[in-house]
Amino acid sequence: MTPPDYEYLRKFLKDHSGLDLSADKHYLIESRLLPLARKSGLNGISDLVQKLRGGSADFVTQVVEAMTTNETFFFRDKIPFDHFREVIMPELIKARANRKSIRIWCAAGSTGQEPYSLAMCVKEMSAALTGWRVEILATDLSQEVLEKSKSGIYSQFEVQRGLPIQMLVKYFKQTGELWQINPDMRAMVQHRQLNLLQDFTQLGVFDIIFCRNVLIYFDQDTKVNIFNRLAKATEADGFMVLGAAETVVGLTDAFKPYPDRRGLYRPNTPATAPGRMLGAGAAAKRAAIAGT
Ligand SMILES: C[S@@+](CC[C@H](N)C(=O)[O-])C[C@H]1O[C@@H](n2cnc3c(N)ncnc32)[C@H](O)[C@@H]1O
Repeated sequence: MTPPDYEYLRKFLKDHSGLDLSADKHYLIESRLLPLARKSGLNGISDLVQKLRGGSADFVTQVVEAMTTNETFFFRDKIPFDHFREVIMPELIKARANRKSIRIWCAAGSTGQEPYSLAMCVKEMSAALTGWRVEILATDLSQEVLEKSKSGIYSQFEVQRGLPIQMLVKYFKQTGELWQINPDMRAMVQHRQLNLLQDFTQLGVFDIIFCRNVLIYFDQDTKVNIFNRLAKATEADGFMVLGAAETVVGLTDAFKPYPDRRGLYRPNTPATAPGRMLGAGAAAKRAAIAGT
């Protein structure tokens, strides 16, 4: 790969998906883009760059999607789901006793293991949620992973990663070598394509945002920008959950760590975070979105 081709791809990926590649990731580009080049009848990376410069929207999407890392598994890292069951949901069930509704956003849901893990946790709490509306929205940049998420179909290998056997038996149906999550669980998760680099105010305000293992690929300015916008999309008494290698500390005051719960954050008070929407503003916005 020539240095100009590499620089072109670096800038292209940063602009389109936020992916921040250091100067030495040639192998990564080649391992992900050479198969796409071959599939598209191109001779190599130089031809691919030329085609990209030509600007077909469909090819742009294919290149961006080929470069995403979609690694995920059920109940990944366990701790975030402990936070969900032990802190987040009990606090929100109290705080939303009148409204009886909770909005959850998986901001990089990949192939669905994360949103469906949350859906299973919610289902397990159904005794405390009778008459409640719990919305789970899974978004991702990649349409391809969203299609798999919607289908809810997983291989034997995928269901063996993180999913307790009792939950597999209870919530999935086996067809040949594949397992499909049951229709009532699929119905609990809505899907939508969304690039976190772009405006997401149209989604409204959430009680819980899971934004795990995606911001690690972005540079500092992009992370700060996304955190500040996520704070505006979180209810004043809501929660954000990050991945094990991610933090807001040292980047923004828009969120503050929840005491003794690694990876769990709450929006900061408006007094210390002037950039975020006031609680009343968030409530007004939610009402406007709901058309009330
Ligand atoms: C490593 S997976 C993480 C999945 C899940 N959150 C987890 O922790 O298991 C990262 C996901 O982020 C998505 N992604 C990458 N860039 C994105 C962007 N700019 N906007 C939204 N999603 C993005 C990828 O398509 C991929 O599915």
